[in-house]
Amino acid sequence: MEELKGLILSGGKGTRLQPITFTSAKQLVPVANRPVLFYGIEAMVAAGITEIGIIIAPQTGAEIREVVGDGSQFGAQVTFIEQDEPAGLAHAVLTAEPFLGDNPFVMYLGDNLLQGGINDLVEAFRTGNPDALILLTQVADPENYGVAELDGERVVSLQEKPPEPKTDLALVGVYMFTAAIHEAARAIEPSARGELEITDAIQFLVDQNHRVEPHIVKGWWKDTGRLEDMLEANRLVLDTAERRIDGEVIDSTCEGRVVIESGAVVERSTVRGPAVIGAGARVIDAHVGPYSAIGDRCVVERAEVENSILLEGSSLTDLRVRVEASLLGRNAKISRSEGQPSAYRFLVGDESDIGVI
Ligand code: G1P
Repeated sequence: MEELKGLILSGGKGTRLQPITFTSAKQLVPVANRPVLFYGIEAMVAAGITEIGIIIAPQTGAEIREVVGDGSQFGAQVTFIEQDEPAGLAHAVLTAEPFLGDNPFVMYLGDNLLQGGINDLVEAFRTGNPDALILLTQVADPENYGVAELDGERVVSLQEKPPEPKTDLALVGVYMFTAAIHEAARAIEPSARGELEITDAIQFLVDQNHRVEPHIVKGWWKDTGRLEDMLEANRLVLDTAERRIDGEVIDSTCEGRVVIESGAVVERSTVRGPAVIGAGARVIDAHVGPYSAIGDRCVVERAEVENSILLEGSSLTDLRVRVEASLLGRNAKISRSEGQPSAYRFLVGDESDIGVI
């Protein structure tokens, strides 16, 4: 088999994570303090795939280029491919055709997280030699995904977000293809949402009697498109963290799987793992509870937080009530307002979502 290439899709608008995604790509929102996109790149490299194309959108591409660089930090060679409009996953494949050539490839949606990586999948593809291999998992809400119908080891039909799904087997955002997918992507028409759906392109392969094999995911899988999924992904990844304290801990208690990066200061505080505190962060007279990812240079002072993601430079100060299930954007500040009248004071961006008591 020709050398496998990798294609990571990192375009898209990320509407479900606004306002964070007004200024940043959803694939760069951190999970356990690392951009979600990094986990996909690492999964590819771990499976021996080092020639990786990353599809970017014009609006957020520059930021992704900057963070990922040439790929050498991951041991990969990265080529950026700009998709000028978000016209669907199959459109992204066509946009990447000059990079992919006739090589088989693994396609990975940049906001997806897959426990255990993709080694098994790549192995199954190399051994079985099918024309395409799709990843499936049982979900409670199949109407929100591509849905597959199987007959033993054969894929019979695929539908994109069907209102009445025939099964509960959802298409996970990781696929293996041979060059046959290019012809399929050219043959299909845009869906009702105006996109060239990869699900329809795979159905075309099935219709043309190409061999499309299913592979059921064993571990967990998360599409991090919404806040609650993001928080869950953060919990799942933090659950695998190992205790490491490189920062300064003064008169404080750090319980369990806690990571404190160098340059961080924790003083007169409690940190209860699993939790991660980024470089240069300050946690003072505070409580950081389980499943918190406190980004670089954040401040948590006279405040309590748990099950939350704080992006770099954000701060929580002088709060009377614990903050939980929250996502703070870069440099966002929440503090108690001083003086009279005693009131909430907000400077809040479009699409923000705030819960008060
Ligand atoms: C896309 C695919 C869908 C798949 C899902 C997995 O959906 O179209 O078939 O199940 O990714 O994350 P989208 O995220 O574009 O709504």
